[in-house]
Amino acid sequence: MVGCYANGAAAVIMKTASSARMDPCQTNDGRHCLIDKYGFWAKSSFNREIMSLDEGLKELKNYPKSSLFGYMPVITSVTELELNPEKWLAGCQAMEEAGADAIQLDLFYIENLLTIPDFEAKFTGLLKEIITHTRVPVMPKLNIGLPAEYAAYLLKKAGVTYVSLLDSIKSPAPLCFTPECQPLVNKTLLGPGLSLFGSFMLPITRYYTQVLCREGFKVCAGGGVKTAEDIAGLLFLGAETVQIATEFILHGFEHIKELNNRTDELFEKAGLTTPEKIKETGRNLYEPLKKAVTYRTQMKAQWNIEKCIIGKHPGDCYYCAHNSGHANGQAFCERIQYGALKTITIAENCEGCGLCAQLCPHDAIEMVRAGS
Ligand SMILES: Cc1cc2nc3c(=O)[nH]c(=O)nc-3n(C[C@H](O)[C@H](O)[C@H](O)COP(=O)(O)O)c2cc1C
Ligand code: SF4
Ligand code: SF4
Repeated sequence: MVGCYANGAAAVIMKTASSARMDPCQTNDGRHCLIDKYGFWAKSSFNREIMSLDEGLKELKNYPKSSLFGYMPVITSVTELELNPEKWLAGCQAMEEAGADAIQLDLFYIENLLTIPDFEAKFTGLLKEIITHTRVPVMPKLNIGLPAEYAAYLLKKAGVTYVSLLDSIKSPAPLCFTPECQPLVNKTLLGPGLSLFGSFMLPITRYYTQVLCREGFKVCAGGGVKTAEDIAGLLFLGAETVQIATEFILHGFEHIKELNNRTDELFEKAGLTTPEKIKETGRNLYEPLKKAVTYRTQMKAQWNIEKCIIGKHPGDCYYCAHNSGHANGQAFCERIQYGALKTITIAENCEGCGLCAQLCPHDAIEMVRAGS
């Protein structure tokens, strides 16, 4: 926590703690990891992954809140294995008592959230109970088990203001094939508790951020964040703050400072020097177009006969002409027509979307200014 503070973190979210402990036979499994093209697959047991409440309280109390270190808010994180308000509340109140500045409610470990009988009433009841009986801000942490729009509806109903997102993706172990072409799964990654982290999460994070911010929540957004551009994107979508986990673990405390500096530089170059300006720019960027406005690009596609290899190497060409008559002919755009003598014509009403130019492996279509 001191390392985070010294490197300019706005706040720290502590490792989750819980009063729940699992049966040791389910939990002496150690940790298993795999890195593949999607990111980090990690499996750990609940007892190993989650601190006991006592451990969490001890860590929190150890954090020096003296003027020597300045002040950085500490957000504690609590979890339980069921939606039992008494258990959650006991953990939250103990953390508050020990000096937490805010409390994150980690919902990751409640399996099949939506299938719990009477889920809606139980969930909103739990959140109301915690908010009513704590003084510090309380922020539920979302995961993909709770779809963004439904989460917004439920959290609003419960009177929640702050939201933390997004937790790692629960996913079955990846599959590979042996040299003998036999399907193979890494057995150490089987069973519950497997999580996937990686930059692929960012589009999902962006969506949750957009939905929750649009609905008026104060969002601490993260999940797949790697660069200053990623951070800027989430702030433009309305996030109040951005959180990082994997990047920080990989690159250390200093990385917080680097990301902060790079984000500042980015905003300075864009002339965005206040949070209001950032928010306003974001609103302008992402506000839906007014109904009366029709979006027209200035570009159109132009076919280059010299570069086009249509009919020569079937594996290396999309046969982009609509109704080309080829067995493997693509028909993604009716504005590209296959003419006589293996020629392609692009109709005048080309929208200039650029798809054909991007798809062609031979640069045989380029985008030019309309009217040129
Ligand atoms: C090693 C590790 C431990 C984590 N432990 C917790 C945790 O205790 N509580 C929690 O809410 N999220 C935990 N997370 C999830 C992160 O907070 C975050 O939601 C997720 O990793 C996606 O963000 P990232 O792409 O920045 O890693 C953990 C992530 C990692 C990589
Ligand atoms: S323009 Fe490109 S993708 Fe389309 S037919 Fe020619 S080579 Fe194939
Ligand atoms: S794919 Fe887009 S750019 Fe290409 S011809 Fe069709 S409308 Fe024009």
